[in-house]
Amino acid sequence: MDFSTSKDFALQLDSEDKLASFRDLFLIHDPSLIYLDGNSLGVLPKSAQAKAREIVDEQWGKDLIRGWNKGWWEAPSRVGDKIGKLIGADAGQVLVNDTVSLNLFKLATSALTLQPNKKRIITDTFNFPSDLYILQGIKNLLSPSPDSGRGARGEGKHEIIRIGASDNDITPNIAELESAINENTALVTLSHVVFKSGYIYDMQRITELAHAKGALVLWDLSHSVGSIPIELDKCNADFAIGCTYKYLNGGPGAQAFLYVNKKIQNKLSSPIWGWWGQKNPFDFSLDYEPADGAQRFLVGTQPMISLLTMEAALEPTLQAGMDAIRQKSILMTDYAVYLTENVLAKYGFTLGSPIDSSQRGSHISIRHEDGYRINRALIEEMNVIPDFRAPDNIRLGFAPLYISFSEVWEGFDRIKRVMEEKRYENYPKQKLAVT
Ligand SMILES: Cc1ncc(COP(=O)(O)O)c(C=O)c1O
Repeated sequence: MDFSTSKDFALQLDSEDKLASFRDLFLIHDPSLIYLDGNSLGVLPKSAQAKAREIVDEQWGKDLIRGWNKGWWEAPSRVGDKIGKLIGADAGQVLVNDTVSLNLFKLATSALTLQPNKKRIITDTFNFPSDLYILQGIKNLLSPSPDSGRGARGEGKHEIIRIGASDNDITPNIAELESAINENTALVTLSHVVFKSGYIYDMQRITELAHAKGALVLWDLSHSVGSIPIELDKCNADFAIGCTYKYLNGGPGAQAFLYVNKKIQNKLSSPIWGWWGQKNPFDFSLDYEPADGAQRFLVGTQPMISLLTMEAALEPTLQAGMDAIRQKSILMTDYAVYLTENVLAKYGFTLGSPIDSSQRGSHISIRHEDGYRINRALIEEMNVIPDFRAPDNIRLGFAPLYISFSEVWEGFDRIKRVMEEKRYENYPKQKLAVT
């Protein structure tokens, strides 16, 4: 499409937008706020707002303990199956529970203990730091260092290989990744859409390559669920994890989900044996016996207010469908790339995301050496909310269900004003706790 920098052009795109009416399903508290952070925390859907009230007033308030037999107990698998529809997973493989980090711990540990003779774990420097920390913690647990005082287990200790970038921190080095996967590889674990540049890994190809060497594959879908179509079953992925508070709009701290392919579920042992993962929890047996299937990866009681609120928040996404969401997202990020090059480049901005939309999720990074201060000026003076990721990335997230093209235009216009008026110079380089 031939884009233009005029506001009329953005209004024209809005008039042709088939998803435009979905904005009405969200609570837009301040219409002048340009919210470009749905890739960190989605906007509140009205369905979730109403449900949260109903849960508190009716379910908790009146049903009390009876709620557990009225749909609370099954909620992790019921809501998991709904998310399964968005990620190409048949029923019985997705469970909502705990956090992304905890689910990674459970699944990665079980993948490694299933293959005790393979010691290589492959990830990359593009992965979310918590994922890297969890892997380091697992390695420390399974293969303690000699000076840990816990006694090294000798030969064949686990090693974590981190694949680097091929270019300016936008694209991982795929050739390096492919050659690192060998017969000693137990697990390949990557973020499907990477959190800074928005690069999308080719799930099918990497999964096939890993399987050809006998390795298992675990995908972190936090930035891809709800923003791009995903086919876990078709790709024959082994494991996945992801969060629900970004593009699924589940609310701050809403539970994460995990996926375990049914082909391997019963071969795996969770490293945390809790009563929700027990075969018959209400027998109150004194000894643990794993539940059938993925259920064994549950641990303990889940926060129901949050979980059921998130269930209602899924409605707009399920209704719109991932193909329509992706179509609008590509047009929107292409437009944002165009505006970056044609409006912002002269102020020293460069694109920190792939130029090719087939390799890009629903956010882009624009880079500037004063990125942190520009981001603060946008939030504090211009009523624009992006976020900042060190060292120099301002991330602009485009959630297709509630962002309009004229808001994208307006957001870029306000960034331009910050640059022209040098408003960022009023802010210290010292960062606030949350960026
Ligand atoms: C890609 C990715 N993985 C993992 C996490 C950590 O999630 P949690 O805080 O639920 O453990 C995040 C958080 O933003 C993330 O973006």
